[in-house]
Amino acid sequence: SAQEPLAEIARVFRGTFVHSTQYAAVEILEDTVLGVDIEGKIAFIARAEEVARLSEIWGFKISDVKHLGKHRFFMPGLVDTHIHASQYSYTGTALDLPLLQWLNTYTFPVEANYKDLDFSQDVYTKVVIRTLKNGTTTACYFATIYTDSTLLLGEIADKFGQRALVGKVCMDVNNAVQCYKETAGDSTEETNRFIRALLKRKYPLVRPVVTPRFAPSCSATLLSHLGEIAKNNDLHIQSHISETKEEVSLVQELFPDSESYADVYLKHNLLTDKTVMAHACHLTDSELTLFRETGAAISHCPNSNISLCSGMLDVRRVLRHNVKLGLGTDVAGGYSPSMLDAIRRTLDTSKALTIQDPQYETLTFEEVFRLATLGGSQALSLDDRTGNFQVGKDFDALLVDPTVPDGPFDVFPKEDTKVILEKFLNLGDDRNIVEVYIAGRRVVPFQEAM
Ligand code: GUN
Ligand code: FE
Repeated sequence: SAQEPLAEIARVFRGTFVHSTQYAAVEILEDTVLGVDIEGKIAFIARAEEVARLSEIWGFKISDVKHLGKHRFFMPGLVDTHIHASQYSYTGTALDLPLLQWLNTYTFPVEANYKDLDFSQDVYTKVVIRTLKNGTTTACYFATIYTDSTLLLGEIADKFGQRALVGKVCMDVNNAVQCYKETAGDSTEETNRFIRALLKRKYPLVRPVVTPRFAPSCSATLLSHLGEIAKNNDLHIQSHISETKEEVSLVQELFPDSESYADVYLKHNLLTDKTVMAHACHLTDSELTLFRETGAAISHCPNSNISLCSGMLDVRRVLRHNVKLGLGTDVAGGYSPSMLDAIRRTLDTSKALTIQDPQYETLTFEEVFRLATLGGSQALSLDDRTGNFQVGKDFDALLVDPTVPDGPFDVFPKEDTKVILEKFLNLGDDRNIVEVYIAGRRVVPFQEAM
């Protein structure tokens, strides 16, 4: 026939697959076969009865099919929609101040150290390894204001095979730390240099993201330039919005001509369908409407919101407004680099809202599983490539072993996959994540090259 030749198959797995779809927060596919082609894409996913027919069509040997084994399952990789790679060095500390004081006291002085490339190399290697081990197959990173150091983060993500959006941070005003500042002109020029240099390296999974730190750190001039750069190059945008009430008031003072915090970003072309804004705890209904209309997404960072006493995002309300939403660790405002923690803190926050109002419709673990995988991919506009096990998407997946020796929880004979998934989400850790694949490449366990 005139059909195109089928892509060559690199791997075939047989066993249980768990993922989310538009229709089901959790879909469990038992005794299933999934084929990955040499480009890392999912070639087929079917019931295991089909394996003989599939092996003829695709030309793989049935003896090459890898059986996952009892209790093990594949799930889509976790998507961290907001993490400060540069703050990883002090994660787990310095959680005793509210946001604006926390930034000047701890964050800006630490970020100033990244002028040093050896320090950058050390921390960035460790954060990429740590997040990969914990199952983060896609990370949306803030780095620092330093272009060469931020390029190094892109290089390290590429080397270890992590899918990443990488942002050189832009900030030109209202910073008490004199040594960590740039002018609007320098920030714009360096952003252009960063984008050109990163794109030139043609990393298959690493993309630049335009990164104004947040409205209080940026002049209107800088915000306009960044909006223009993003628009002219069709780039992703990331920032923070309405994390604390104090910050919302400050933005009102700094931008008296804007109707709202969201309007500040909108006016500067920074609210687009490739934008992800962290926190959004204190948005009004009309701001949420702006998010829906522009297609901008929210990164929910519950550990950070609790740790810095910033607020509690009402996820149910965001979803009712049809705004895209993913989860983020927000290291180091959030003290855990693990997306499993982000899942747990999302559930905790939803339960705290239910304590305040017993009528509140608490999020289910199934819904939160979807937010951490498919929801994150949608929030980063990467759902054409990742987020679940759909034919044609890249194979980004975690092989979970709930019965790993000396693991963090126990499994009993009558428990089905759904129950075991719930235990893993609530009690599991990196010991249970025995293999990680990104675009079909196995990136955990690490190769000797490490
Ligand atoms: N707002 C502006 N910068 C930051 C940051 O580094 N962390 C958090 N959590 N909020 C911010
Ligand atoms: Fe943040």
